[in-house]
Amino acid sequence: MFTRENDLDKPMIPVRMRSSGQGVLSTQVVPRSLVLRAFFQRPLQTGAVMASGAALSRSLVTLGRVDRAALVVELGSGTGVVTRHILESCAQGTQLISLELDSQLAQETRSRCPRAVVVNEDAQKVREVIERFGHTACDSIVSCIPWANISPSRQRDMLDAVDSVLRSGGSFVTFAYVHSARLPNARHFYRELCARYPGVETSDVIWANVPPAVVYRVTKV
Ligand SMILES: C[S@@+](CC[C@H](N)C(=O)[O-])C[C@H]1O[C@@H](n2cnc3c(N)ncnc32)[C@H](O)[C@@H]1O
Repeated sequence: MFTRENDLDKPMIPVRMRSSGQGVLSTQVVPRSLVLRAFFQRPLQTGAVMASGAALSRSLVTLGRVDRAALVVELGSGTGVVTRHILESCAQGTQLISLELDSQLAQETRSRCPRAVVVNEDAQKVREVIERFGHTACDSIVSCIPWANISPSRQRDMLDAVDSVLRSGGSFVTFAYVHSARLPNARHFYRELCARYPGVETSDVIWANVPPAVVYRVTKV
């Protein structure tokens, strides 16, 4: 078990990182109907019936250290709530590239967050996408991909893609809903993270989110 509170630059909410989690609520600020529509059309891919709340979004951007990044990559932007928080937290010169598989949701992110480069593409193609914009690596990856719904082999391929673009010293953050964290694919994802990175930090449970969630962070050596 370890804690890295001191690594965090002025977190906007109290967040303690440890090896197993608990901790924060919010108002969902997005057009829920779009998320619901996406969920009914492709439940496994969408992985949620409502957008992430402010508390979870803030945890992701704080723990993802987006304020120090020159390039941030977001995976699974949905309607753009986390995207908006990333843009509010990063420096003016920081570039944000967001990948979203659902074309309607990608369009929604684009219109809500015109400063982000939003690409309607599979997260697995992240290297190809950032290369299209002249980059080979990024400093921070904020992922909202619903790992609990993704098979182990696809998880491995996606994590290979993530690792291939994450700069040494860079952060990869993602979240798991508490109610599904014990599902086989969710457990596999956590084990896979542990196998690939020296320390997987887990936030307190963010009870304020609907549903409650924990954030995982790994830092590339
Ligand atoms: C749980 S929702 C999160 C949406 C939003 N970021 C939020 O926090 O409210 C997951 C999002 O990931 C997208 N997604 C799922 N698999 C993906 C993939 N392989 N590549 C890109 N986006 C993906 C879904 O379409 C959905 O919008």
